[in-house]
Amino acid sequence: MDELLTKENLEYRAMAREIAEKHVRPIAAELDAKAEYPWPVVRALQDAGLMGVWIPKEYGGRGGGVMNLCLVVEELSKACGGVGVTYAVNALASFPIIVGGTEEQKQKYLPDIAQGKTLMAFGLSEKASGSDAGSLKARAEKRDGFYVLNGDKKWNTNGNAATLYSIFCSTNPDRGGRGVSALLVEKGTPGFEIGKKEDLMGIRCVPVHELHFEDCHVPEENLLGGKEGYGFKHAMMTLDLARPGVAAQALGLAQGALDLAVDYTMKREQFGQSVASFQGIQWMLADMATKVEASRQLIYAAARGIDAGAKHVSKMAAMAKVFATDTAMSVTTDAVQLFGGYGYCKDYPIEKYMRDAKITQIYEGTNQIQRLVIGRSLIKEAAAGQPRTQSAEA
Ligand code: CAA
Repeated sequence: MDELLTKENLEYRAMAREIAEKHVRPIAAELDAKAEYPWPVVRALQDAGLMGVWIPKEYGGRGGGVMNLCLVVEELSKACGGVGVTYAVNALASFPIIVGGTEEQKQKYLPDIAQGKTLMAFGLSEKASGSDAGSLKARAEKRDGFYVLNGDKKWNTNGNAATLYSIFCSTNPDRGGRGVSALLVEKGTPGFEIGKKEDLMGIRCVPVHELHFEDCHVPEENLLGGKEGYGFKHAMMTLDLARPGVAAQALGLAQGALDLAVDYTMKREQFGQSVASFQGIQWMLADMATKVEASRQLIYAAARGIDAGAKHVSKMAAMAKVFATDTAMSVTTDAVQLFGGYGYCKDYPIEKYMRDAKITQIYEGTNQIQRLVIGRSLIKEAAAGQPRTQSAEA
């Protein structure tokens, strides 16, 4: 319902929709087949001033917050889930600077991120540290004005396209999660190598790489927030802000697949009539559309709560992520079903939606971890005697 969106929301959505239809949809299949980074789309987003939607105005961004970020991600993902994440990952990786950076770090890095001159990647996971993010092994030791970083990172979305990386590492292994710190590492820093590119099932236009650090000398002033030991908290706060963006990617995929399925079933004739005229098909479409709309409202509520300064956003962000991404998987799978045999081959765009959707249930915290976050929040709220009917407390 457009009436529930502000004038600003509608403007962002219209700009992103135009870019998606003009610059993304026509090349989505080719980007997927060639696993090519969508540079023309980045340029179009730059020209439209959309690269800095979530970045505060005082640092050269548009101050559009998480809500407008979600609207842009949703529109791009309707045309291509991979393009949606190449864009959204800049928000994921720059949120640490926004939530935990020093004034100097914000002034130095955010304006170029806002203009799309700097693309970013987020380095939290490692080969043996995924859901248990606090168990990471990359290590940084302070020496002569530098943090000397050693270790490897896994699943770095935007891996070789980025020029700035938020890297989580331990500055004090004896303290576990409380010994984690974040470093802002620039591409080209000696000792920093981009490693293996993953051959992915979906979102194939996104370069996902391993990163290697060997005696990589990161200037001391690039310690996020200027204090050691805050990295885990900053990572968690970042994920709270970023998870609605993954949910919006899933929403775009689900809506995009639903739109194609409605069109296809109206045109496809069997038994002398369109398959959409069969009640069994209409019921499928109705269930798909209802779940898509429920996802949308949950995401927008989480995003609006974050932008309004709600304090306890983990639960809502996790709910939006889990519901929208499970919806994307079921809706895109049903969409393939509605296309029948044609849905299973690459002559039609629909199978890509299903492949792109799967990762949204996995990254930025698996949906099992989201349920853990929700469950822990419920217990914490009950133990604190907090009201349990509000969606996002200010
Ligand atoms: N905000 C602020 N602080 C938080 C927090 C939050 N949302 N959640 C936890 N913390 C704090 C806690 O208060 C605690 O602080 P103290 O040490 O001061 O007590 C500390 O962090 C540790 O918290 P927990 O004991 O809850 O931590 P845990 O080890 O049990 O882990 C977890 C919690 C939720 C499972 C967490 O590890 C997690 O979110 N895991 C998933 C990681 C993830 O999402 N990875 C994806 C990486 S990005 C990606 O996918 C790639 C990409 O590029 C797209």
